[in-house]
Amino acid sequence: MDITVMFKIITMLSLITFVICTTSSSKCRRNETFLDCRNKGLANIPYIPEVPGTVTHLDFSFNQITVVSPFNLPHPSSVVEVYLTHNNIDTVVRGVFDNMTNLEVIDLSYNKISGSSLHIETFKYEIGHFENIKRLILKGNHLGKLERLTFTAYGFSTLEYLDLSSCSLDTLEHLSIDNLARLKHLNLSFNYLSKFEALSIEGLSELEVLDLSHNEFSILNEMSRLVSLKTLYLDSNRLEAIKENIFKPLFNLEILSLKGNMFRTLYPYLLPLDSHSIKEIRLEDNPWHCDCRMRWLVEDQSDEFVFRDFKLRCEFPSRYRGKNVFDIRSKDLNCYADYSRLVLLLTLFFIVCFMLVGIGWFIHANRKYLKHLRCCHKKGGNYVAVYHNEDDGNEDGKDDQVNIIITTTEDESLLNNEETTATEDVKLEYSDD
Ligand SMILES: *[C@@H]1O[C@H](CO)[C@@H](O)[C@H](O)[C@H]1NC(C)=O
Ligand SMILES: *[C@@H]1O[C@H](CO)[C@@H](O)[C@H](O)[C@H]1NC(C)=O
Ligand SMILES: *[C@@H]1O[C@H](CO)[C@@H](O)[C@H](O)[C@H]1NC(C)=O
Repeated sequence: MDITVMFKIITMLSLITFVICTTSSSKCRRNETFLDCRNKGLANIPYIPEVPGTVTHLDFSFNQITVVSPFNLPHPSSVVEVYLTHNNIDTVVRGVFDNMTNLEVIDLSYNKISGSSLHIETFKYEIGHFENIKRLILKGNHLGKLERLTFTAYGFSTLEYLDLSSCSLDTLEHLSIDNLARLKHLNLSFNYLSKFEALSIEGLSELEVLDLSHNEFSILNEMSRLVSLKTLYLDSNRLEAIKENIFKPLFNLEILSLKGNMFRTLYPYLLPLDSHSIKEIRLEDNPWHCDCRMRWLVEDQSDEFVFRDFKLRCEFPSRYRGKNVFDIRSKDLNCYADYSRLVLLLTLFFIVCFMLVGIGWFIHANRKYLKHLRCCHKKGGNYVAVYHNEDDGNEDGKDDQVNIIITTTEDESLLNNEETTATEDVKLEYSDD
């Protein structure tokens, strides 16, 4: 009896606390400009009828929202920024932002939006038509790939900032990021891109910052015509090589960052050194081979542009490992020195070879003498003469020859009735009369 009553009370109590918690958690806080619905356990966009026209920021982050449905705000045109980060959003209902005519920022980072649902056909109509949008943040969604014409000027003609970092992107189709004529900042870092194609990023004539770091590029063969680009990040890729003159079309480039790649050596003609705008080229954390091919770097004396502020640690040769290449005098950056150990080993090898060949030759040349020593003094075999008549079929037998082979009794070829070549032949000629 007691136990069941207790159990019932506990259940009732927990139910009550649950109800209280959920109702209170759905109460969003707000002040004059900010509607704060963060971390309220929301599964949908709540209906909040009394939001005043002064509120410019809506924040629904850290909830369990899966579908972005219409906001039903009394004053949608006053909203400037909408934050929907860290939810489970996979669908944005058509035209939900349509009446927010002054909207500038949409942050949808860390949700479940897929690349195909971003495609222009759906995206344009689903997310809406924007007149003032400036920042679109899609960081941390599992986009996978961006299809052709995903971002065209159509819905985002005013976009200035696009964050597509950590979006599991492995493919950018041609013209997938295209014609965003006002875009200034594009972040494609922390993706799986392995091939950069100039055509995937096109018509971004105002782009100033492009972040391609933490991808999987191993070689850079082409570059888009980004005439306004000032900063290019290519850090933490697997870059070993860049094509000649690839940075030439970026004639406003000021900072080129190539840190944390696999470069072992870089030739000056690969870098935009003669560009008038360039201020900094970051080359740290590469496995540099500090040999004669790096001399140009150490010898570079130009005032405006110096690499000297950086520490370029040598990986090779071993005696310079960990050393900053700028601490090594240019005359000590040698190419032959790298091979000195190899040369030493090869020399030793050849000396040993010569000695072996010499010994072999000596043994060969003195074979008879050695054999003589062996046969006569050690074994002392008896000599035999073998008369061997070579009959070439002549009737008169005039040209017949008799070969006398003198050999020792120990010669086994005699037992086998063979002719031996290792013995001395004595050739005697005689005539019959
Ligand atoms: C309104 O609240 C947000 C956070 O909840 C805060 O950042 C902002 O400064 C507040 N604004 C005013 C005017 O109090
Ligand atoms: C936008 O405003 C129009 C007219 O007031 C209204 O009919 C429509 O439902 C609104 N759309 C959204 C998504 O709120
Ligand atoms: C790009 O995004 C990454 C990760 O979100 C961030 O760490 C990095 O600072 C961003 N790059 C720029 C240039 O803002």
